[in-house]
Amino acid sequence: METDRKDHWETVYATKGENEVSWFQDDPAPSLELIERAQPGPDSAIIDIGGGASRLVDALLERGLRRVTVLDISAAALDLAALRLGRRASKAHWIVADVTEWEPSRRFDIWHDRAAFHFLVDAEDRAAYIARLKQALRPGGHAIIATFAADGPEKCSGLPVNRYDPAGLAKELGEEFTLLDSRAYDHATPWNSNQRFQFSIFRKQGV
Ligand SMILES: C[S@@+](CC[C@H](N)C(=O)[O-])C[C@H]1O[C@@H](n2cnc3c(N)ncnc32)[C@H](O)[C@@H]1O
Repeated sequence: METDRKDHWETVYATKGENEVSWFQDDPAPSLELIERAQPGPDSAIIDIGGGASRLVDALLERGLRRVTVLDISAAALDLAALRLGRRASKAHWIVADVTEWEPSRRFDIWHDRAAFHFLVDAEDRAAYIARLKQALRPGGHAIIATFAADGPEKCSGLPVNRYDPAGLAKELGEEFTLLDSRAYDHATPWNSNQRFQFSIFRKQGV
């Protein structure tokens, strides 16, 4: 199952260009807006879960963040991001792992995920993801999770997804996380179809 998942994503990134994947966005503005809400400083540790070849890492480095990590199941995806960044790639930390099996070795102030959690359609995988989130996010830290909205597409990259509204996502994450803010966002794919997302920011209990 995990091998199938990895094979799927390695093939996607090895065979498709940036503009051939529905989730491509030039400017990760909705993510940055909610990351700002968490008021990161230059030494805030942030991890982008399922970051793929996203340009979010570029934007975070440009903003002077010094502890940026990108985790993805696909090595090919991270290679593409690193190639784009050139010498700046060494300023970020890169992890090839399936988030449901990853063993976090340190804690983060901000957890960001745009369109990775929604692929976890099995309850066991979601529980494994949430266990990692709880382990890796410091008490009082922020989690920003973007998924297809309740009225969004039923599939992404040919795979089934779970769709969420912010309240449903909050319920899924459990009582340790307080929903602070959310917004609906219509993502235009490179071929100009609309995909409705929800972006939510949560605060983990504690200080
Ligand atoms: C729809 S893409 C979104 C990529 C990126 N977040 C963005 O906004 O451009 C989903 C990403 O999640 C990664 N992914 C899927 N399942 C994963 C898993 N179990 N663990 C880690 N990454 C995963 C894929 O390789 C892919 O890069």
